[in-house]
Amino acid sequence: MPTKVILDVDTGTDDAVALMVAALSPDLELVGATTVNGNTAVHNCTENTLRVFDWIGLPEIPVHQGMSRPLAREQMTQLNPASRIHGDLLDLPQATKARVQPGHAVDWLIETLLASSGDITLVPVGPLTNIATAIQKEPRILERIPEIVIMGGAHHHGNSTASAEFNIWLDPEAARIVVNCGRPIRMIPLDATHQALVSLDDCSALRNLGTPAAEAAARFVEKRIDGYDATQPMHRPNAAPVHDALAVCAIIDPTIVTTHHIPVDVETNAELSVGRTVCDFRFRSGRPANVHFAMDADEPKFVRMLMEILGRTA
Ligand code: RIB
Ligand code: CA
Repeated sequence: MPTKVILDVDTGTDDAVALMVAALSPDLELVGATTVNGNTAVHNCTENTLRVFDWIGLPEIPVHQGMSRPLAREQMTQLNPASRIHGDLLDLPQATKARVQPGHAVDWLIETLLASSGDITLVPVGPLTNIATAIQKEPRILERIPEIVIMGGAHHHGNSTASAEFNIWLDPEAARIVVNCGRPIRMIPLDATHQALVSLDDCSALRNLGTPAAEAAARFVEKRIDGYDATQPMHRPNAAPVHDALAVCAIIDPTIVTTHHIPVDVETNAELSVGRTVCDFRFRSGRPANVHFAMDADEPKFVRMLMEILGRTA
C-alpha cells in the first residue's frame, strides 16, 4: 500500500522536485500540498506549487495556502543567496488548470487529519508555521499523525546563519512546538542533505529521460548549482543539494539516510544561535530522545531514485 503524505512546502526549487517525487512515486499517495511563507512570499509558493502540478499533468492534487509570516517574530529578511537559488517564481508556465482550494491550509490540515484513520505522514519542507499553528489550534490532530518527516535543522553548520538552517531559523518558535509535540519525528538536516548532491552530469541524464518532471528537475537543479557555486560552495563544484527531495526519498526508502534517535530542541532566545537545532548526542540533558536525526545520506541511491521516479509520467 502506498504511504499517504501531505507536503507542506515553501516552493522553491527543491520543494518543486520534492513535490514531483511525491506525486509520481508509486510508493506514495500525495493527499495534498499546503503552502507556507518561506523561500518567497506564500502567494508565490502557492503559484509555484500549482505550476508544478500543472506541468506534470496532475492539476487535481489539492493545494491550500497557509501562513504568510512567522508565529512570533518579525519576518526575517531572506538572505540574498536564496533568491539566486530559488527566485520568486519557478521557470515554468503560469498555472492554468491547477487551482488553489478555498479555505486556509491550517483548517484543511486539521479537517483532513481528524477525518483520517491516522495514516497520513506530514512532510514539512519549509518553515514549520502551518504545522505548529494546526497543533496549537487543534491538539487532537496529534493522535492522527503517525510520523512527521521534516526537512530542516543542522548540527555541524547552518546555512542562514553559522548556527541555523533556514526552515528552522525563519520560525524557531514554530519549530520548537513541532519537535516537542510528542509524535514520531524524523529530521533530514543539512548534515544529511549536503552529503547527497545532484550534479550537472545528473541534470543531463535527467534531460535525456524526456519526461516533463525530469526536464523541470534538470532546470531547477541547474539553477541551484549556479546559486550554490556562487554563494554556498559545497565540497565539490557543479553540484548542489536538493534538500526537500531527499526528505521525500527517505520516506520511500528509509535506508537512504543514517539517523540517530536523540533529544533535539530548538534555540529560540540566544542572540547568536537562534534557530539552532540543539542535538544532544550524548544525552547530557537527561531528556528522552524525541527525534530521529539524519547525519549522512547515500548520494548514489538518491540520484538513482530521482532518475527512476522523475522518469515516470502521470
Ligand atoms: O535550508 C534548506 C531549506 O530551506 C529547503 O527546504 C529550502 O527549500 C529552503 O526552504
Ligand atoms: Ca523548502
